[in-house]
Amino acid sequence: MRTIDWIPAPDGPGHIQLIDQTRLPDTLAVLDVHEVDELIDAITRLAVRGAPALGVAGAMGVVLAVQTQPLDQARQAITRLRAARPTAVNLAFGVDTALAAFDRAGAPGALDAALAVRDQDIAACRAMARRGSDLLTELVPGRERLTVLTICNTGALAAVEHGTALGVVEQLHLEGRLERAVACETRPLLQGARLTAWELARMGASYDVIVDSAAAITLARGGVDAVLVGADRIAANGDTANKIGTFAVALAAAHARVPFLVVAPETTVDGDTATGADIEIEDRGSDEVCTFRGLRVAPAGATALNPAFDVTPAELITAIVTDARVIDLSTGQVPGIEQETS
Ligand code: MRU
Repeated sequence: MRTIDWIPAPDGPGHIQLIDQTRLPDTLAVLDVHEVDELIDAITRLAVRGAPALGVAGAMGVVLAVQTQPLDQARQAITRLRAARPTAVNLAFGVDTALAAFDRAGAPGALDAALAVRDQDIAACRAMARRGSDLLTELVPGRERLTVLTICNTGALAAVEHGTALGVVEQLHLEGRLERAVACETRPLLQGARLTAWELARMGASYDVIVDSAAAITLARGGVDAVLVGADRIAANGDTANKIGTFAVALAAAHARVPFLVVAPETTVDGDTATGADIEIEDRGSDEVCTFRGLRVAPAGATALNPAFDVTPAELITAIVTDARVIDLSTGQVPGIEQETS
């Protein structure tokens, strides 16, 4: 099934159906979302997550808002929806795309636009999988089967049907070229251990989960051919925001001279953001770090820093694979992006 989809209703408003990722890997449960505030709640507690899926959620959320609320309330709800997770640019992209279509062509226009965002994601992930697999043939010549390391979840659960970085891993597996995947567990919410491992198991791929802090030694010991990660926002100079821990993995990959690839759709490239320093990093508060599934793991009263993302500088990125191209960052800029000069 799709991670997120629109369920039309013959005589009235449709609704969003999505996989509730907070219940995985134990239970594959579906959430039916009829109101935009329910969607904002699902986004905030990461029932739906991952940049491409958030783009689709944002676009479909606009449809929910305009079909269930008076226009002034709908616009306020859409503003809250757009801000629900600030780092992933795809959420704002999805909202803006559907809202512009609504302003042009009303609710039917918004729905068409939202379905197009969904369908473009499906096509983009297919294109990235093939392009990423071909690039690995060039970057790691003479290796029939590859071991790749990844962090967070960039699979179908982070998109609609297939993933970005994990979509490349799936492609390698389908081509018989995947030796093993190494999935960083991804503290504090365990997207790697819970979701990536679940997806790899369903694919029938061989894999190991490691704690995030084992990534450096795993790379330094040799035996990992490439690192593949996703992105939440790529700045105009190629600096890339992704799940917390990605920067540390990139440093370790550089030390071990292992190619480090970012795999993301063109919609994640944000020409309005000049460098990584301009990317807003979501802080998710102390509880996720100081407790584990309701159990306190730090002393009562302890506070934590909990940045959900970090920024990998462009110079640590071997290449960015999108649905349209392989971006070589050697010029210090993502080509084709026009920066406003002030
Ligand atoms: O906090 P999350 O789980 O939404 O973070 C997701 C990531 O960082 C992913 O790597 C990114 O969104 C790319 S998903 C294809």
